[in-house]
Amino acid sequence: MMRDLPSCWPTCPVGGARPNPFGLPVGQIRRVAATPSSGEDGEVDETKRNILKLLAVAGLVGAGAGGLAGGALQYVQPPTIGISAYPKVQLLDADGSPLTVTKVENEYNVETSQDVIFYYPLQNEPNFLLNVYPASGTPNSGGTNGAENVPYGIGTHQSIVAYSAICQHLGCPVPAISFYPPGTCPQTPGGKTFYIHCSCHGSTYDTTNSASNLTGPAVLPLPQVLLETDSAGNIYAYGMRPGSPPVNGHLNTLQGDYGVGATSQLTKETPIILCNIV
Ligand code: FES
Repeated sequence: MMRDLPSCWPTCPVGGARPNPFGLPVGQIRRVAATPSSGEDGEVDETKRNILKLLAVAGLVGAGAGGLAGGALQYVQPPTIGISAYPKVQLLDADGSPLTVTKVENEYNVETSQDVIFYYPLQNEPNFLLNVYPASGTPNSGGTNGAENVPYGIGTHQSIVAYSAICQHLGCPVPAISFYPPGTCPQTPGGKTFYIHCSCHGSTYDTTNSASNLTGPAVLPLPQVLLETDSAGNIYAYGMRPGSPPVNGHLNTLQGDYGVGATSQLTKETPIILCNIV
């Protein structure tokens, strides 16, 4: 926008004060950004523009770096924890003393209502220790009061066995999965009066046949821990039954936590009883 020229223009004295059409002191530079409200054209403040450009570039770089980092993180796996082979682990009774066949046969039988648990081979892999021999007498012909000579059983009657205490369906652990003594529920899956039962969805497992499935939805047996004794009758865990599936939640029974060490002590859990067997 032009301002009015002085009245002497164009014959104003040479050397006198020059007309300043913008009213600015000579020697000053003014860079003015146009504002939407002014309706005037103006010059953009280049410093602000450059700062905004830098911020925008920094934002894009940051977003890109964040995206790359986020994309890379999905492929970052925690270091594998585990052991390379099945160890021989001595079992200890709940009081810390060595667990022997004699103790098991005196303290535990098919009527034992508490879950007797030990961890093997890893610290997050619980197992049932069971003695499925009857509390008194001998197994009847129908096997409804107990059993003997079960696969991989140890002890006088080969009735002491150990199975994973993590369900093979969706991984419910003890005590959601528990041993049910004879008569706990009215149902007798596969003709069995005692079994391991998972209250989460009703799966049952045969404690007299390597924890094979009696009812689903689980379709795999519970992994079976191999037991053995020394000449003094002390009990050791030393591996898993050939053909056992991995413990649920583990790609490999030896991978997924630290090993239990040289010994593993019994603990006891109170079962969750729910007769939801289909
Ligand atoms: S988790 Fe055991 S039956 Fe589903």
